[in-house]
Parts: sequence; structure tokens; C-alpha cells
Amino acid sequence: MRCKFCGRDADIYIPYPRMHLCKEHFIVYFERKIERTINRYKMFSKEDKILIAIGGGKDSAVASYILKRFGYTIEGLFLDLGIGGFSEKSRRYAEKQCKDVDIPIHRVEIRKLFNRGINEVKSSRPTCAICGATKRYIFNKFAYDNDFNVLVTGHNLDDESSFVLSNLINWNIEYLGRQGPILPGTGKFIRKVKPLYEVTEVEIKEYADVIGIEYISERCPLSKGEKIPRYKHVLNELEKMSSGVKINFIKGFLRNRHLFKFDLGKSSILKECKVCGMPSQGEVCVFCRIWGLDKPVELKVS
Ligand code: FES
Ligand code: ZN
Ligand code: ZN
Repeated sequence: MRCKFCGRDADIYIPYPRMHLCKEHFIVYFERKIERTINRYKMFSKEDKILIAIGGGKDSAVASYILKRFGYTIEGLFLDLGIGGFSEKSRRYAEKQCKDVDIPIHRVEIRKLFNRGINEVKSSRPTCAICGATKRYIFNKFAYDNDFNVLVTGHNLDDESSFVLSNLINWNIEYLGRQGPILPGTGKFIRKVKPLYEVTEVEIKEYADVIGIEYISERCPLSKGEKIPRYKHVLNELEKMSSGVKINFIKGFLRNRHLFKFDLGKSSILKECKVCGMPSQGEVCVFCRIWGLDKPVELKVS
């Protein structure tokens, strides 16, 4: 097979839109796609101070590589959840990825802050829910405390289409209204953006391999029983039957998202947590409740 653009031997096949490409043109195709997503949703500009949540996996590694290559000002934050060997291995990859693209990396260690790991929290909530709430809080507060005005995550098309499918099946209207490539900042909420929103896991993996980006490929040992991989599997099966299902599903969702209208400023999240001062639905925010805090976590870097 020949590359669609230059006619040389193709190295990579993109199932949607059915295309054979050589390595060089795959890089051009992939980077253009990300650039278009950033511009289409006006995610950030060269003036912004961007924090990227870096976890050692391929998604955040590819996002940081490309943003740096595009000339944006970014710094990484690695959150160590204290899950033994898995966290250590993730940290080593995250550090190497940041070093390779020459961006500063910050580390927040849950075990140092609270004397226990994410799986040692006594709570009726599932570990993944505790983990999700902890990640959201720490990344947002770190960005807020250290004057970043944009927070980037490595969520890709497979993640997003499976979240939407899962939230539709469970009719989580509020989540659906908040789902999207960009969640605007308001008050102490920093703007959150997903530059990999329109690229698939397969494309990201190809890009990482072509560039030579190393990453951790194991999944978190605590994620067993999580439902999202099942939705991903279903969407992958549908994609095999008719390519383009995921991107068309997500584009259709974005066109119809007004049906699930959610206004962060007008939502019930209006109070300030009386422990940490961050936005909260109740008197004390979920994070401070989970970790049993009586004073705010200090995340400001001196
Ligand atoms: Fe969240 Fe493992 S990464 S529970
Ligand atoms: Zn080519
Ligand atoms: Zn709080």
C-alpha cells in the first residue's frame, strides 16, 4: 500500500477516514488534527500558563510533547496516588517524559500529605470514585494556587465517547451537560481542556511509537471492575462494523449538548468549603470529607 500523500510505501493504516500513510505524513496528519481541535475550541493561546496532568501513560505524554513542539508554555504535574510499585513506575515514566521535552515537572504525593495511599481510605465510595474526586481536586487546586490559567488532560476520543455512552445509559444529565472538549473556568475552577479530544487511542499509540515516546502501558491495579473499559469495548466493536462511529457519536453529542444544559456558575456548586475555601456543594467539599481534613492542603510551590 502507498501513502495517500506522497505515494511512498505506507507504514500506517488509519481506519477512519480509511487512509494509508507513511510515517512522515502520519505525523503531519496527527499534529494537524490536534492543532485544529485546539483552534476550533479556542482552548488556549501562547499567552496562557498551562498545567498538564502527567501520569506516565501515552496520552498525557503525547499531549505534552505536541504542546511543547507547538511552542506553548507548559509545566507538568504528577499526582502520586501511593499505589506501591505502580505509582513508582508511573512517576519514573512521567519524569522521563517531561525531561525529554524539557518541561518542569511538579509532584504531589498523597502518601506524604495524608499518610496513606488512595486504596487505604476508609469510605463507602468505590476507590475509583475517591481517586477521581482526588485527582480533580488536586489538579484544579494546584493550578489555582500556582497561577496556571489552563489545565490540560490527555483524554482522547475513546475516553470521551465511552464517558458519554456510559452517562447516557445511566442518564447522568449533569455529567452530560459538563462533558466536552473544554470546560470553561469560573471563580476558583480553572479552565479544563482536552486537546486529544478528536484522536483515537490507536492513533495516539502510533504517534508515540513513531516519535519514540516511552510510556507505561499497564493499567492501574485498582481499576478492576471499572465499567468504562466495557463501554470502550462496545464502541470498538461498533467501530469495526462501521468506521467513524466514535467521532460521529461525539460530534452529534456536542451538537445536542444543549439538551443537557449545565451552567457551572449557576449550579448548586456555589458555596465555599469551610475547610479549604474551594467551591463546594455542601459545607465541606468532597475532597476534604474523603481525607478528613481540618485545614487546607498546601500546594503552592515556593
Ligand atoms: Fe485511580 Fe487507579 S488511577 S484508582
Ligand atoms: Zn507520505
Ligand atoms: Zn474543602
